[in-house]
Amino acid sequence: MSLLAFPPRIRARVQCEVTLAPYTTFRIGGPAQFVVNAQGLRDVADTVAACRAANMPLYVLGGGSNLLIGDEGVRGVVLTLHQMKKMQPFGNKVLVEAGVNLGTLIARCSHAGIGGVQGLAGIPGTVGGALAMNAGGRHAEIADFVERVVWLNPEGDLQSLYREEIDFGYRRSGLRFGVVVEAVLAGAHAEPAHLIARSRQIMKEKLASQPYQEFSAGCCFQNPMGQSAGRLIDQAGCKGLAVGAAQVSELHGNFIINRGEARAEEVLELMRQVTERVQAAHGLSLQSEVRIWPSRDILARAA
Ligand code: FAD
Ligand code: EPU
Repeated sequence: MSLLAFPPRIRARVQCEVTLAPYTTFRIGGPAQFVVNAQGLRDVADTVAACRAANMPLYVLGGGSNLLIGDEGVRGVVLTLHQMKKMQPFGNKVLVEAGVNLGTLIARCSHAGIGGVQGLAGIPGTVGGALAMNAGGRHAEIADFVERVVWLNPEGDLQSLYREEIDFGYRRSGLRFGVVVEAVLAGAHAEPAHLIARSRQIMKEKLASQPYQEFSAGCCFQNPMGQSAGRLIDQAGCKGLAVGAAQVSELHGNFIINRGEARAEEVLELMRQVTERVQAAHGLSLQSEVRIWPSRDILARAA
């Protein structure tokens, strides 16, 4: 696979052998064979078509805040939509491109008197990543506000889907199999001052209970139905457990932090040890929430 697989008009936006660690909140990950920084829908469509034609794996990178990228990196194409960040509030709705930072969206909606998305305050990453993951927490999840989403489906066709047509679940959506381009989110009118105060309050709660000063990818494991994985990990005595520079946070058991130069293999081995301990203590099998590139079975012993 060479640069020639890309249409001439986008070759200037393709970079080769780019180290991915700086693009993730974990600060972990080896090189991508190619990175394409899309400037607009046409670049996204051309990239998807090129990958399909050359049978090349395509990875979509948002804010990199829910990713563990292998030390060996990824072969194929990493597509970013960071340059696609238009946003237009209208009435109680907002039209927003996938590359917009979630915090920026929340601030803009608050000032425009659009209430709802403030429940997502403090979640890092982009709108595209939040939709793909159905990001959320105690107060809300992004699916609550979706009116429609424009995406390139896995076949490379541009589609507009209404919320009812999207398979949203707990921390998952069918959208992660394609490329989210933009969305219309709908809220309810409220006073800007009230919305700003609400975002600040939720952010304060998160800062007090989660290790925001450290490099991490948020919660590593999904919560088993009705339970907190963080509490289960804590009760299983895993806080502070470390493999190399990867450590289970002392503040919140479901966060693994990178204390310096942690390698993906160390995080994977630590995740494996945590799942083993939780299985032994509670008889529950934890599932990864963090997306692993290239995909990997975390229960397989690290090499
Ligand atoms: P990425 O990490 O870049 O990607 C995640 C997945 O989405 C990948 O599969 C990727 O391919 C896919 N994706 C990204 N963009 C697109 C797109 N345009 N189209 C299709 N697929 C795409 N999450 C929560 O849900 N609740 C929380 O409270 C929360 N707190 C966090 C706190 C901290 C300190 C950190 C570091 C993370 C936290 N997270 C939380 C995890 C993370 O922030 C969310 O999952 C976030 O929505 C991921 O967005 P992203 O843009 O960073 O996506
Ligand atoms: N708890 C402990 N020990 C810990 C962690 C938590 O005892 O180490 C207890 C807390 O004291 C609390 C309960 O467990 O009584 C629940 O904890 P918390 O409020 O932190 O919520 P959580 O269920 O652990 C979920 C999401 C978070 C989200 C918060 C708040 C998942 C996997 N986690 O955590 O999302 O921020 O609710 O809304 O769904 C993420 O997905 O990356 C993430 C950080």
